[in-house]
Amino acid sequence: MTESLSLEIRALHEVSLTVNGELKTVRAYPMERLLDVLRHQLGLTGAKEGCGEGECGSCSVLLNDALVNSCLVPVLQAKDADIVTIEGLAAGVQLDVLQEAFLKSGGAQCGICTPGMILAAHHLLRRKPNPTTEEIREGLSGNLCRCTGYIQIVEAVAEAARRRAAA
Ligand code: FES
Ligand code: FES
Repeated sequence: MTESLSLEIRALHEVSLTVNGELKTVRAYPMERLLDVLRHQLGLTGAKEGCGEGECGSCSVLLNDALVNSCLVPVLQAKDADIVTIEGLAAGVQLDVLQEAFLKSGGAQCGICTPGMILAAHHLLRRKPNPTTEEIREGLSGNLCRCTGYIQIVEAVAEAARRRAAA
């Protein structure tokens, strides 16, 4: 690594990104994790740290409509990107249909995996509004639940899909 690159990486940068529809500018080190910037600088604590190494999905957010593990994304990679966190799904006090379905079906137990699961489900339903059970399982396969609430979680996603289709 050249000395100038090394200095660049160790310097604070201003990074602008749109989070849940609002333009934000943060000062961060380029390799700082998006997860930490969201939680510690922007106060968006919905994304959770589970494994911290890209295995569990509890830190999932949408980055330019792609589902990503924010613990693996350097904040500089999110420069000028459009980020959606779990806080961006509800409209004020009105919960999103997926959030309501998770509550109703008991799809949230300790809640650590829940924000990531719901964002993964949201991402799935945007691509496949009427998924089969198998497609729901596959769509959520990058998100782990230690409380093993998978039956209720899959049911919650199916219920949300039915409600969206009937709306
Ligand atoms: S905390 Fe990011 S994938 Fe587990
Ligand atoms: S509800 Fe506890 S990890 Fe999923």
